[in-house]
Amino acid sequence: MLKYSALVALGATLAAAVQPLEVKNGVFVNPKTGNQFQIVGVAYQPGGSAGYNPKLKRDPLSNKDVCMRDAALMQILGINTIRVYNLDPDLNHDECASIFNAAGMYMLLDVNSPLVGESLTSFNPWESYYAQYLNRTFAVVEAFKDYPNTLGFFSGNEVMNNEETGATVPPYMRAVTRDIKNYVKKHASRPIPVGYSAADVRDILADSYNYFQCSLPGDTNDMSKGDMFALNSYSWCGASSFKEASYDELVSIFKTSDVPVFFSEFGCNTPSPRVFTEVGAIYSSQMEGFSGGIVYEYTQEPNNYGLVNLTEEGPATLTSDFYALKEQYAKLDFKTIQGVKAPTTSKAQSAACSSKLITTKGFNSNFTLPKLPPGAQEIIDKGVSPKPSGKIVKISDYKVKWDVKNNDGTVIANLAVKPLADGDVNQPGTNTVSVSQGSSDGKSSSGSASSSTPSKDAAPRDAAALFSVAAMGAFAVLASIAI
Ligand SMILES: *[C@@H]1O[C@H](CO)[C@@H](O)[C@H](O)[C@H]1NC(C)=O
Ligand SMILES: *[C@@H]1O[C@H](CO)[C@@H](O)[C@H](O)[C@H]1NC(C)=O
Ligand SMILES: *[C@@H]1O[C@H](CO)[C@@H](O)[C@H](O)[C@H]1NC(C)=O
Repeated sequence: MLKYSALVALGATLAAAVQPLEVKNGVFVNPKTGNQFQIVGVAYQPGGSAGYNPKLKRDPLSNKDVCMRDAALMQILGINTIRVYNLDPDLNHDECASIFNAAGMYMLLDVNSPLVGESLTSFNPWESYYAQYLNRTFAVVEAFKDYPNTLGFFSGNEVMNNEETGATVPPYMRAVTRDIKNYVKKHASRPIPVGYSAADVRDILADSYNYFQCSLPGDTNDMSKGDMFALNSYSWCGASSFKEASYDELVSIFKTSDVPVFFSEFGCNTPSPRVFTEVGAIYSSQMEGFSGGIVYEYTQEPNNYGLVNLTEEGPATLTSDFYALKEQYAKLDFKTIQGVKAPTTSKAQSAACSSKLITTKGFNSNFTLPKLPPGAQEIIDKGVSPKPSGKIVKISDYKVKWDVKNNDGTVIANLAVKPLADGDVNQPGTNTVSVSQGSSDGKSSSGSASSSTPSKDAAPRDAAALFSVAAMGAFAVLASIAI
């Protein structure tokens, strides 16, 4: 009796947590369920690049009220992962990480920032590869490694975007990946994946993948091979198709990948507003080798990719893209999509690193990586000092503090994060707070009044066709993996 009440008391104080994911046989795996994990993500950088400002002690995961508002809206969409680009390791992220954790969402984190000394540069990369840069990078790992919902770290984002940068950057990028992996191995309690986020520049995409994902011959303890590979891809625009968007090309590059591959950004915004029909394709069986994707992006900025319009600090208004995306997610059967058992063997072995793998003239094919810069080994050995560590904390109130409006000006009632049970991950339908699309922004109204009860009939015809392929495909994946 005593034991029971002690347990209840304990249960009341401990926050429920998502299950840390692992990388195995080319996919993200939930080790508790044995299921493969598909990323249903959104890029999260409220305030744009100005949202990160070390002088103002501000980054996207440092304000609890902002995170609460945004986690609630993402929950309504069906998001299970956020990508955050610019983080200050010295700020406290406990409340935001705990809110996203309670909402059933993972975090993919870039360790770099655009500030000088905080990223590997595309031009003369050797000039930016020094101990203090690595210290900053490791500090981000330190700050996030203890949260259960940290899904992975991006060691770089689009550092190569043309043949010129492809000639110089690869060995340095692979070296940084090695260094971060060594830091994780030494200091984190679990093997958090580290990998590169590539620009989808088709001239160098396959070379980039081959360069980062091959195995160094003779090195049985190769720490420089990425644990995952991602690409920022905008080839699907408007009501396109698998072929027209050249997704078939991507599948042919990645279908036998031995590490998880996913879109670290997607969501072409021309034409605008967006219809997001790529969503049906991304989670279909056609997308062999892929583990989902991250929509670019949560907040409306001058580049016009936003799902949510923040006109001032606090209150917010949904854009028509929010409803369009919600409608596409709601069409998919995520129970089935997320219920696929992870493969028990790898689809393929990675190729041995060799200049033969590189097909573009001028792309770097030197696999002798730069050595650690002076002073860096000591930081890996002893750890960053002081250590900016984080932990899950108790959140007592999940209500959103500010009014958020539909695009017709009506206020969304009872907006709050719904804390999930231990081990649960968010998916469409989890948070049933109702949103409804008006036409006051003058560019919505495809005939459907409410996106909280999306109907398949309201979708454009080709999108509906794609959906049926997607729904059947999920079973095909299930069948092919079971064999
Ligand atoms: C390393 O990073 C930590 C955490 O951000 C910081 O406090 C420390 O000053 C850094 N050390 C150096 C040598 O830059
Ligand atoms: C965002 O809000 C601003 C200011 O109210 C408005 O001018 C703009 O049209 C809005 N953008 C979208 C996409 O809703
Ligand atoms: C390959 O890179 C290493 C390390 O940067 C360098 O020492 C070596 O000279 C390079 N080899 C060639 C053939 O360029």
